[in-house]
Amino acid sequence: MNTILVIGGTSDIGRAIALRFAAAGWRIQIAGRDTAGLAREAADIAARTTSDVSVHRLDILSGPSFVAFLDSLGSLPDVAVSVVGLLGDARRAEADPSHAADVMRSNFEGPALLLGELAERFVSRGSGVLIGISSVAGERGRASNYVYGASKAGFTAFLSGLRNRLARHGIRVVTINPGFVRTKMTAAIKLPPIVTAEPGEVADAVFASATGKRRGDVLYVRRIWSPIMLVIRSIPETVFKRLSL
Ligand SMILES: NC(=O)c1ccc[n+]([C@@H]2O[C@H](COP(=O)([O-])OP(=O)(O)OC[C@H]3O[C@@H](n4cnc5c(N)ncnc54)[C@H](OP(=O)(O)O)[C@@H]3O)[C@@H](O)[C@H]2O)c1
Repeated sequence: MNTILVIGGTSDIGRAIALRFAAAGWRIQIAGRDTAGLAREAADIAARTTSDVSVHRLDILSGPSFVAFLDSLGSLPDVAVSVVGLLGDARRAEADPSHAADVMRSNFEGPALLLGELAERFVSRGSGVLIGISSVAGERGRASNYVYGASKAGFTAFLSGLRNRLARHGIRVVTINPGFVRTKMTAAIKLPPIVTAEPGEVADAVFASATGKRRGDVLYVRRIWSPIMLVIRSIPETVFKRLSL
């Protein structure tokens, strides 16, 4: 039986991913800092599927604990997906370095260090798939959320380098840029429906990618984001800096 580790299991997207894989008969390892929330989620998955679910405590800001965390999993997963992240308060992050550091460390440093540690173990075993949930915000810095965007850009670049390094070892590294997703993270933001996915669509994309049904190293959940980001990336900086985005 295949096993997936969902890092950031209490997120709306993480819950949808865990449920999607459980429905297909996978063993589920869910990790996060809110063990009571994870236990509720495990009970929900167990009530809806016949899958085996285990709960693992993890604080993504605590790098020194990652080796012990991975040792405690019992078995090394076949697929690991990092869903953990922090949008933060963009205005506060501009002026408060400790808040900016939390955003940067939660989206980049922590997930990158943990996936890096997992990569070493996957290479030793000779198999595995690593999936990072990054963001279109990482493709171009914008005035409205550049601290979050820069942290996702760092994560995206890390995944790209890891993919390049691990390709010859038969380990796949996939970057998923969901576009907008209707979750508690974006509950206060008015999102345009045509470019906004439901958590279940992200879960379907992760499942299709992990099982080889959707090809590609870097995926947008709704394909409409591909031409949108092509245009956004192509705008010259001299023009871009005058736009309110
Ligand atoms: N929603 C969107 O429009 C959108 C778009 C693009 C990318 N994304 C990305 O998708 C991922 C999931 O987002 P979401 O919308 O589902 O938001 P969310 O519900 O706020 O999920 C964030 C997750 O990260 C966890 N987390 C934060 N800090 C942590 C820490 N120090 N240690 C352990 N876990 C920590 C949270 O755990 P707690 O429950 O304990 O807080 C939660 O599980 C994030 O990486 C986000 O950047 C979202």
